[in-house]
Amino acid sequence: MKVEISRKMQSVQASAIREILKMTSNPDVISFAGGNPASDAFPVEDLKRISAELFEEDPIGLLQYGITEGDAGFLEAANRFFNREEQVTRAVDQIIATTGSQQIMDLLTKVLCNEGDVVACEEPAFLGALNSFKEDGAILRGVGFSEEGQLDLAQLETALSIQPRPKFFYTIPNFQNPMGTTMSLETRKQVLALCKKYGVLILEDNPYGAIRFTEEHVPSIKSLDEDDMVIYAASLSKILAPGLRLAVCIGREDIVGKMVVAKQGADVHTNLWAQKVAARFLSTCDMNAHLSRIRAIYKKKCALMLKTMDETFDERVTYTRPDGGMFIWVNLPEGSDVLKFAQKAIENNVAIVPGISFYTNEEKPCYALRLNFSTPTDEKIVKGIRILGEMTHQL
Ligand SMILES: Cc1ncc(COP(=O)(O)O)c(C=O)c1O
Repeated sequence: MKVEISRKMQSVQASAIREILKMTSNPDVISFAGGNPASDAFPVEDLKRISAELFEEDPIGLLQYGITEGDAGFLEAANRFFNREEQVTRAVDQIIATTGSQQIMDLLTKVLCNEGDVVACEEPAFLGALNSFKEDGAILRGVGFSEEGQLDLAQLETALSIQPRPKFFYTIPNFQNPMGTTMSLETRKQVLALCKKYGVLILEDNPYGAIRFTEEHVPSIKSLDEDDMVIYAASLSKILAPGLRLAVCIGREDIVGKMVVAKQGADVHTNLWAQKVAARFLSTCDMNAHLSRIRAIYKKKCALMLKTMDETFDERVTYTRPDGGMFIWVNLPEGSDVLKFAQKAIENNVAIVPGISFYTNEEKPCYALRLNFSTPTDEKIVKGIRILGEMTHQL
């Protein structure tokens, strides 16, 4: 029997990154392609102890159905944690637990977009989000960056002002995936002002904010917003464990409340066991000590990768120097064939992701690639970067 795939799924391809990651199951391959937390960043002993305690105290409470909005104890602990440095949650807001922040992209698009509606987004941006918007029938309108890595505000204004207006603008202001850049405070204020001017909501995705290498905390757009313009996605994947599949969505009640209805149809509720474990971790463990520990791990890996790149890369190659997060964005000389470069890298047992994977439109010229420094060991970082360095001289 011939099966016809829905129109909205026809335009969505299997993620190029997932395809590359399949090759990285070969232990000889050094992978700079993923985005997993470092294996020594997981608080394994605490999670083991807390799981055992909770099972001892109330096993049925972990294994029973829960409510769609999320476990009250988890929501309280997560809300306290994500408001520790600034006021993200406003009195008018609702907070819900979601199955990773990936689910927020999906639920928000379902709630706001009819098929063919426009979503504006940073370009390049996290592929999982772009695919999710497309799967829900949205058409993407990309907004690029300046050479300095700041969002191009003129492009943003055009994207917001032309008809049909976007339903929302998707942004990752902290240690952007894939670029590793941070949006300045001034740009955040301007993004908010422009979105307000054109009546376009903002989806602010902040999975990497806590993994910063400097003391400087740049306020989130959500904390600057007094007009209910921002829906905030806060994930525990990169600071605790992605396998828990836990995030919270914070924003105006009329929208977030409708996302709860959409979530009922998606997965009824987020894993209750994981929510209870995370709630106790967030409220009883020393989060400052945990964050300092994981920041130190990533800062060291990032510095090692940059140092090795400085020593070995051809001088025509430029790259970002992130203040946090997990990624470095590398620009090869104009005209370079990045797909060929990635292919050759794999033949040399190094996996990278071509930058074009993070674009809304694969026809655009792109000479960039993304490197991940959080997953490989220090030894593999040095070995893999030296191999790429050699290759940059042959471009
Ligand atoms: C920018 C960005 N947003 C969201 C996610 C998804 O995170 P989660 O595990 O919370 O679904 C990722 C994962 O890599 C990401 O890089």
